[in-house]
Amino acid sequence: MLLDIVKKRRSIRRFTDEKVSDDDIKKILEITLHAPTAKNRNAVRYIVVKDKNRLEELSNYKVRNANFIKDAGAAIAVVSDKNIAPNTYYQDACIAATFLMLAVTDIGLGSTWVNVVDAVHESGKSAKDFLREFFDLDENYDVECIIAIGHIGEEKSQRKPFDYKEVVYEDKYDKTK
Ligand SMILES: Cc1cc2nc3c(=O)[nH]c(=O)nc-3n(C[C@H](O)[C@H](O)[C@H](O)COP(=O)(O)O)c2cc1C
Repeated sequence: MLLDIVKKRRSIRRFTDEKVSDDDIKKILEITLHAPTAKNRNAVRYIVVKDKNRLEELSNYKVRNANFIKDAGAAIAVVSDKNIAPNTYYQDACIAATFLMLAVTDIGLGSTWVNVVDAVHESGKSAKDFLREFFDLDENYDVECIIAIGHIGEEKSQRKPFDYKEVVYEDKYDKTK
């Protein structure tokens, strides 16, 4: 049930050495490809990295909060083509990345969304530019995020959801709430 999966999902940044199989990656992406997109455009692409050296290099794409990618069994870059979906490429990519993380949870693995927007590589280059070169992508591609994936190597309790009463409104926004 979806509620069980969303309750189980946490950001996992510690992974065991167990390999992520090609079959796992296939299952994850098969689920992900059901994600909706604006006008049903097919703008999102997935670049799967499993090679240890590539993962290590990738983990340095920004100066903070990405280092654990080197210990992941795999990472998937979610990228989208601005030519195919000029106004919604990033929204399409975000929805796909969300499906992807839930798919990872569904097959019993762990993941973390590692962000790219506004991030900077140690050379001073933007993380987006660094990643475009790293993946050999043309200018029309936007790299939305890297999803680090692996066998779970840390225990995390269930995350408390945001408070329903605080965030849900009826009919219109209520300033006094
Ligand atoms: C848009 C977005 C960007 C994020 N960027 C990073 C990141 O760059 N590095 C990281 O370690 N975690 C990142 N996270 C993970 C969040 O910190 C995490 O989802 C949040 O603290 C809630 O914890 P949970 O995922 O365990 O429920 C990101 C999550 C989202 C949704």
